[in-house]
Amino acid sequence: MTFDDKSVEDLSTEEARLELERLAQEIAKHNRAYHGQDAPLISDAAYDALKIRNQAIEKRFPDLKRVDSPSDLVGAAPQEKFGKVKHSVSMLSLDNAFNDDDVAEFVTRIRRFLRLSLDETVALTAEPKIDGLSASLRYEKGVFVRGATRGDGTVGENITANLKTLNDIPKYLSGDEIPDILEVRGEVYMAKSDFLALNARMEEEGKPVYVNPRNTAAGSLRQLDATITAQRPLKFFAYSWGEMSTLPHETQSAMVQQMADWGFPVNPLMARFEVLDNLLAHYKKIEMERASLDYDIDGVVYKVNRLDWQNRLGFVTKAPRWAIAHKFPAEKAITVLKDIEIQVGRTGALTPVAKLEPVNVGGVVVSNATLHNEDYINGIGQDGALIRDGKDLRPGDTVILQRAGDVIPQIVDVFLEKRAVDSAAFIFPEKCPACGSDAVRDYNEITGKKDAVRRCTGGLICPAQAIERLKHFVSRKAFDIEGLGAKQVETFYEEGRIMNAADIFTLERRDKRSLKRLKDKEGFGETSVKNLFAAIDEKRQIDLHRFIFALGIRHIGDTTAKILARSYGSFEALREAVLMGQDKTGEAYQDLVNIDGIGQTAASALIEFFGEEHNLSVLDALLSEINLIAPVVNDEQSPVSGKTVVFTGALEKMTRDEAKAMAERLGAKVAGSVSKKTDLLVAGPGAGSKLKKAKDLGVETVDEQGWFDLIS
Ligand code: IVH
Repeated sequence: MTFDDKSVEDLSTEEARLELERLAQEIAKHNRAYHGQDAPLISDAAYDALKIRNQAIEKRFPDLKRVDSPSDLVGAAPQEKFGKVKHSVSMLSLDNAFNDDDVAEFVTRIRRFLRLSLDETVALTAEPKIDGLSASLRYEKGVFVRGATRGDGTVGENITANLKTLNDIPKYLSGDEIPDILEVRGEVYMAKSDFLALNARMEEEGKPVYVNPRNTAAGSLRQLDATITAQRPLKFFAYSWGEMSTLPHETQSAMVQQMADWGFPVNPLMARFEVLDNLLAHYKKIEMERASLDYDIDGVVYKVNRLDWQNRLGFVTKAPRWAIAHKFPAEKAITVLKDIEIQVGRTGALTPVAKLEPVNVGGVVVSNATLHNEDYINGIGQDGALIRDGKDLRPGDTVILQRAGDVIPQIVDVFLEKRAVDSAAFIFPEKCPACGSDAVRDYNEITGKKDAVRRCTGGLICPAQAIERLKHFVSRKAFDIEGLGAKQVETFYEEGRIMNAADIFTLERRDKRSLKRLKDKEGFGETSVKNLFAAIDEKRQIDLHRFIFALGIRHIGDTTAKILARSYGSFEALREAVLMGQDKTGEAYQDLVNIDGIGQTAASALIEFFGEEHNLSVLDALLSEINLIAPVVNDEQSPVSGKTVVFTGALEKMTRDEAKAMAERLGAKVAGSVSKKTDLLVAGPGAGSKLKKAKDLGVETVDEQGWFDLIS
């Protein structure tokens, strides 16, 4: 029954609700016909009349306005950029297993971590790994309120309007016992059949076709104008969750079933296993079915079924210990290596890059591949082992390219029989192609071997290094300045506007006095310049760990930067510790390498960085422009937060890894050896020298039970 002939004033509440539902569907249908198929079914006037009626009903019954209301979506002005969403529970990624042994090892690790006896079974779920993009959907009291991309796992982008256009994503949840706050996570993807149909249409219209379903799904989901997303046939599978005000079940499989009951599509190939062989048989089965599935998958994901175990297992860096992705074997293709190009990185490393005849490998067109270093080109891998049976690579060679999932493409073999008779071995340059300085392979003090990497010795005079340092400084995990990406810093460097990181923050002041104002630059204008300066100002407050990472110090990646930020709490403390650490026989150096996760290599790199006069002056200039935000200690309540803890001897109730993870969760720092800085030693049976040293230094010491008493 419809009420389309009844005037808005005469509608009852129930009639209005049904009418809004009908209009939402009707308008969506016309949008698809109009935008998607370019074949309108009704006149513009009739279409406008539907929208006006919808708005009038919403005005009279504001409470009935639908989450997918056409008035929010259709014709709405596209946003300028996506807002940010901080995930209340991080969105993790997965570690990979490449063969059955890796999977067996994964199960062994779990058993060891949980200290399970042999008669205890570990039930695992297995399900396809969908090749799409993950999204987090937040529901409050059963209503879809916000959707976000994964982003860096901590902060994603707000793509609510786009996600609302997916039929697979319920706007209201059905069923009962819906937690007040509920975040469902899963994969947005494009079906293969929809992808092919879309491309057929593009071809017909003489437009460029899309490369593969995943990239098309990604592009579609990240449209600032949600009406474009609405025309793309995107789908969704739910497979995990984030924040939940109450957790309704105790196992992964029950939770997934629950998500299905709430109205989410879940993957039909998910199953639960207790025996490893059966788990692996399921992998084989899914692999056999792979080609006939209507969506791309790149492996099978295994998860520990018991949620209390998942909880205990926790995660390392970004991936849970309780899940793993068993990847399908890599896809291969044959192509021609046209040339070898040398790129200079921010630390001066000369990296050879293969320029390939573009080739489709498992759905992705590849035209570049890294060749790592000159040994690699010569068929020599790490530790002198042969790769490609020791065959070298020469421009003109016919090669086999391999791409495995998200791993960068590799050249795995060469057809020597196809090599031209007059071909010559590639000669790796001994001068930097960017600045002409000598490029050398150092001896590594720590390993006592020659470095595989050849480095430009030009340092400050090398423009390539300077540009790469700047690109790193503004990269996503570092300063991440909107509107100042790799391309822009490159041009700004070439124009002399930004020569080092500190210049970014004085750009606006200098620009005011400049004869070549940015606003007059091609492609710029008042607004974009204003936005750029605002984006820069926004980053004058920055997390300490991002700042440390941004400096681009060798061997200091984002994880190490976080460890340093947490351990020292302020940049001054870090700087002082490193300067004191220059004396490698002293205590400060010992403290530095003692930090769990910082080894000699990272420590030496820090010392080298802070020992460089120029770095110190850029640092001073930078620090006078910005404010660093100190890390928050994890758990204010915990009796061990901020304390340095050392574990030694045998532990019975938990493994060393579990103990460490637990201490870190409670805000403690875990060190590998005892020093004056140690606050607590947890010593199990068999503790030796560390226990003695702790006694000598008067460090508080407890046994395993004492540890549990302390933190309980
Ligand atoms: S579980 C904590 N299950 O793979 C567990 N992820 O490589 C988080 N993915 O970021 C993920 N299918 O985007 C899970 N069945 C599945 C998946 C899946 C695809 C994606 C997801 C994740 C990425 C990690």
